[in-house]
Amino acid sequence: MKNLKKVDKEVYSALTGEIKRQAEGLEMIASENYVSKAVLEALGTVFTNKYSEGYPGKRYYGGQEYTDVVENLAIKRAKKIFGCDHVNVQPHSGAPANMIAYSAVLKPGDKILGMDLSHGGHLTHGHPVTLSAKIYKFIGYKTESNGKIDYEKLEQLAIKEKPKMILAGFSAYSRNLNYKKFRQIANKVDAILMIDIAHIAGLIAGKAIASPVPYFDIVTTTTHKTLRGPRGGMIMCKTKYASAIDKSAFPGFQGGPHMNNVAAKAVAFGEALKPEFKKYAQQMILNAKTLEKELKKYGFKIMFGGTDNHMVLVDVFGSKGVTGKEAEEALDKIGITINKNMIPDDPRGPIDPSGIRIGTPALTTRGMKEEEVRKVANWINATIENYKDEKVLNIIHKEVIKLCKKFPLNR
Ligand SMILES: Cc1ncc(COP(=O)(O)O)c(C=O)c1O
Repeated sequence: MKNLKKVDKEVYSALTGEIKRQAEGLEMIASENYVSKAVLEALGTVFTNKYSEGYPGKRYYGGQEYTDVVENLAIKRAKKIFGCDHVNVQPHSGAPANMIAYSAVLKPGDKILGMDLSHGGHLTHGHPVTLSAKIYKFIGYKTESNGKIDYEKLEQLAIKEKPKMILAGFSAYSRNLNYKKFRQIANKVDAILMIDIAHIAGLIAGKAIASPVPYFDIVTTTTHKTLRGPRGGMIMCKTKYASAIDKSAFPGFQGGPHMNNVAAKAVAFGEALKPEFKKYAQQMILNAKTLEKELKKYGFKIMFGGTDNHMVLVDVFGSKGVTGKEAEEALDKIGITINKNMIPDDPRGPIDPSGIRIGTPALTTRGMKEEEVRKVANWINATIENYKDEKVLNIIHKEVIKLCKKFPLNR
């Protein structure tokens, strides 16, 4: 990065700091990951210079012979991974992808049944602070005390509310969904069925969990997180909705696609099609299950009764009397990055909730397995139990750095 160093010392200095932070810390935010050098290289290319409004073969500007190649590659590979009828790889990120999908098939004021935020849903699934909640009428459904969704209750709610759309998917829920049940309920009330797989896309791509694609009309996702691609969004759908989705993305919601990003998506999808990615996806789950088992052993209450995916939601306040914010800050000091998170119907507020969310995607990318996760669980427990003791935190921090050095970021 000699040019950046010469031209902009301030940005260069922040960047070198971030490189060190990522190398020497254990990244356990469930929505984060480390992309490969090939994905990074594709992101930093001259494709960023190009305007490509429209779609391959139907652009509004000239000079598209190479942008068409990369967008077609991304489309072809996404279809191969997920087996979808149609895919749009242009959404800039996950939140815009959801907005594009809603506005493709709904009218303002239409009703959507989505998962309640504190039960694991995402902000864009109906939280009142979002633009989508100002346009559409969201009704939330919740999980039960056993951590599962009661599909009979969901069906009764759907019959009562008659939504235009039923939305599945989550940001902090750790169990598998029953896709078939969602389909049956949507059929019964004649609703469009959508799922947001932003968190679990990599697990689906690696065939570590079942795919919802055959059951759902529209599937949105981010391309970062478990899928290990660049920051971005993507929408898959049945042929019936293809034209509406494409029009809603452009010109409905976005302008020109970020072609450097589309190129990097193509590279990441190529990586996800390799046999190694299957092993990676399975290991993410094994690591999360190990984390669940170990944390339970240390007396932590794991929400939703456990995990089937790459994350656990832990009630730290209920288990140890330490708030989510206190736990997040203490873990930051030892170089483990997680996020504070609400637990279902959290009696505490979102600024300092009862829980923390811990994920294994990034740590698994570094090559860490069950043995390392057991160590990490031990450090998490020791840190939370001694969160005011700087001496103890310092000792653990040194151990964390040692482990990180053993598992460098070298993909
Ligand atoms: C389920 C889900 N959907 C959408 C998003 C939003 O994605 P982005 O931050 O890329 O806009 C997230 C982000 O965490 C998410 O978890």
